Amino acid sequence: VSEIAHLGPLELLSPRAEESLRFFVDVLGMEVEGQEGRSVYLRGWGDYQRYSLKLTESDTSGMALLGLRAWSPEALERRVAAVRAAGLGGAWLDSADRGRGRGYRFSGPDGHPFELYYEVDRYAPPEHLRPALKNQPQRYTGRGAAVKRLDHVNVLSADVRADRAFATDVLGYRLYERIQLDDGTEAGAWLSASIAAHELIYTKDAYGAHARLHHVAFWVDTREECLRAADLFLDHGVDIEAAPSKHAIAQGFFLYGIEPGGNRIEVTTGGYFVYDPDHPATVWTEAERRKGQAWGVQTVESFHTYGTPPVEAPAAR
Ligand SMILES: [Fe+2]
Repeated sequence: VSEIAHLGPLELLSPRAEESLRFFVDVLGMEVEGQEGRSVYLRGWGDYQRYSLKLTESDTSGMALLGLRAWSPEALERRVAAVRAAGLGGAWLDSADRGRGRGYRFSGPDGHPFELYYEVDRYAPPEHLRPALKNQPQRYTGRGAAVKRLDHVNVLSADVRADRAFATDVLGYRLYERIQLDDGTEAGAWLSASIAAHELIYTKDAYGAHARLHHVAFWVDTREECLRAADLFLDHGVDIEAAPSKHAIAQGFFLYGIEPGGNRIEVTTGGYFVYDPDHPATVWTEAERRKGQAWGVQTVESFHTYGTPPVEAPAAR
């Protein structure tokens, strides 16, 4: 059983921070929770923490940090001990970031920046965002795509096998699905700390680069909201990379777009829950992947190659 409750917040870098902010606020419908220096803290109406996304102005794009909340102070200590025992290094920060207590920052095998933490502020909405129901963290404003919360994160890795082993053996994630190429190479791993079919995903970096981001996904409750988000992307001039359809792996319903800073953002719903404690990981072959997504839609080429920060293709290097 995992000692990680869930992932997030995520810090995202953007070289066009003002336009990125407009995308997250106007198109995705997130709320600005606060602002510090070159960062803006954003939240979905269903996020229980103060924010799930920290957008930071930078000269590049990509993921600057992925938070992992432990279930308890003891679970945090045990996971940090496991990270250290695995030789990944890292260091404690007394007050890791806005609304969080101490956190342990380290890099995963491929270099992805993580922070393990437990103490965090629960969101207290201002008057104009107070919900009618006390079991909801914030009022539903209905602006833009009105995403509910951060759902999952897909990062790229030069060595999926090493990162998959780290996630299962060190962090205690469960492996629900994976891709194995004909030569035995692991090309993708869909991992979860909960019964949700995927939370943390590693896929192979086509360019062999390290620690890059593939996409960040935000949840909506219905497929109709995904379709509506596509209409909003269209009229806001957001580059739609993959129009709504259903993934074969993890069965998530998706819409993929590229936000102004260059990062791939998904609006997602669907998927499935894993109740089986002995659930065997589903293994997909190259031939099966060639069939495309669930309904036979072929995946666009950029989906297999593009990540942030962008790098040149190996042939061009
Ligand atoms: Fe996704």
